Amino acid sequence: MAAARWMLRWVAAAVAAVAAALALDNGLARTPPMGWLHWERFLCATDCAAEPRRCVSEQLFVEMADRMVAEGWRDAGYEFICIDDCWMAPTRDKQGRLQADPKRFPGGIRKLADYVHSKGLKLGIYSDVGTKTCAGFPGSYNHYDLDAQTFASWGVDLLKFDGCNSESLDLLAEGYRRMSVALNRTGRSIVYSCEWPFYLRPVQQPNYTEIKQYCNHWRNFYDVYDSWSSIKSILDWTALHQDTIVKIAGPGGWNDPDMLVIGNFGLSWDQSVTQMAMWAIMAAPLFMSNDLRHISPEAKWLLQNKEVIAINQDPLGKQGYQLFKDKNFQLWERPLSDRAYAVAVLNQQEIGGPQKFTFSLTFLGNGLACNPACSIKQVLPASRDCGVYSWMSSLSLEVNPTGTVLLKVLPL
Ligand SMILES: *[C@@H]1O[C@H](CO)[C@@H](O)[C@H](O)[C@H]1NC(C)=O
Ligand SMILES: *[C@@H]1O[C@H](CO)[C@@H](O)[C@H](O)[C@H]1NC(C)=O
Repeated sequence: MAAARWMLRWVAAAVAAVAAALALDNGLARTPPMGWLHWERFLCATDCAAEPRRCVSEQLFVEMADRMVAEGWRDAGYEFICIDDCWMAPTRDKQGRLQADPKRFPGGIRKLADYVHSKGLKLGIYSDVGTKTCAGFPGSYNHYDLDAQTFASWGVDLLKFDGCNSESLDLLAEGYRRMSVALNRTGRSIVYSCEWPFYLRPVQQPNYTEIKQYCNHWRNFYDVYDSWSSIKSILDWTALHQDTIVKIAGPGGWNDPDMLVIGNFGLSWDQSVTQMAMWAIMAAPLFMSNDLRHISPEAKWLLQNKEVIAINQDPLGKQGYQLFKDKNFQLWERPLSDRAYAVAVLNQQEIGGPQKFTFSLTFLGNGLACNPACSIKQVLPASRDCGVYSWMSSLSLEVNPTGTVLLKVLPL
């Protein structure tokens, strides 16, 4: 009897261990989701009389959806058009349902979703696990099932679920779990974007095995800003915590370092290259927050670069990691399918001109990336063939200050 019970417990533990490695079972986000999100660039602009082109409104999303189709964004893979905070009316309706601000979204979210779908795109929406959203609109606390049903009935395809205004960490965790179950119960395929670990982290170590069972991607760190210091802090945080977070990422569940801010005001060209290259290395969801009505050809070239997007979307679904760092340079690699590797060399110096970095190919991919030989292709800052190398050879690159050279290494 005791032995039998012991066996059962052992089997249960083994099953839990297997299940623990699994992602949220909704069949979504097999590769990192791609799209456009109104937060960073448009924040919480709600005064459409004062700022008709900038306010969070039906018109803004319709115009972005039109651009996404007309300017090749959808064809490059940017599929979701996502609403962030501040879309709601200040109160729920008489049935207790969330409702869009009637002035700014005169047709309601259902009509916007229909429009977005008619363009071959998907619609994302935003809510919060607590009593109020971060900007003070109604939160989903105590309404998880009703809100999930409302979103599903509107035809929503992604939910970004923020973590402001929760009374305790237990309620926060419980709310993230319950919304995941509620979304599943609707029967509609809805990508579930969480901020659960970010809100837990100051107090306790997040259980990523569990988070991955409930969420398709999750934020770990502060909101991205339109600045190099923000990009740098996200990269530093990621490298510092890579032992915990890299292994958990994979098809169905991704670490989310927040939006691409390329095409705005804060990043130089080299810094934009760094963000694009490193978001590909990190297997990050690629949500742009910029104004697709006003974007430079250079930013568009970078954001639509097929080779970088292919690295980001690589079907093996392994997140990259930092291999080496000194005060000037960082070397990162990401295992890709077909035994290939993406390799990034980032120059952290913010003084002087381009710096030369020389490294041995022997150590890439645990000694396997260029064994016995490899061909190397540079992807960024410009596409070029670097030629064929042997295992024992070194590679020298010139990298601009705050810039990155992104390579693809193919074994021969
Ligand atoms: C709900 O969860 C079940 C079991 O994990 C899964 O098979 C199903 O595909 C999910 N449905 C949706 C719509 O996410
Ligand atoms: C983390 O969550 C998993 C899945 O829910 C569970 O099996 C495991 O015991 C948890 N780990 C810790 C340290 O709590």
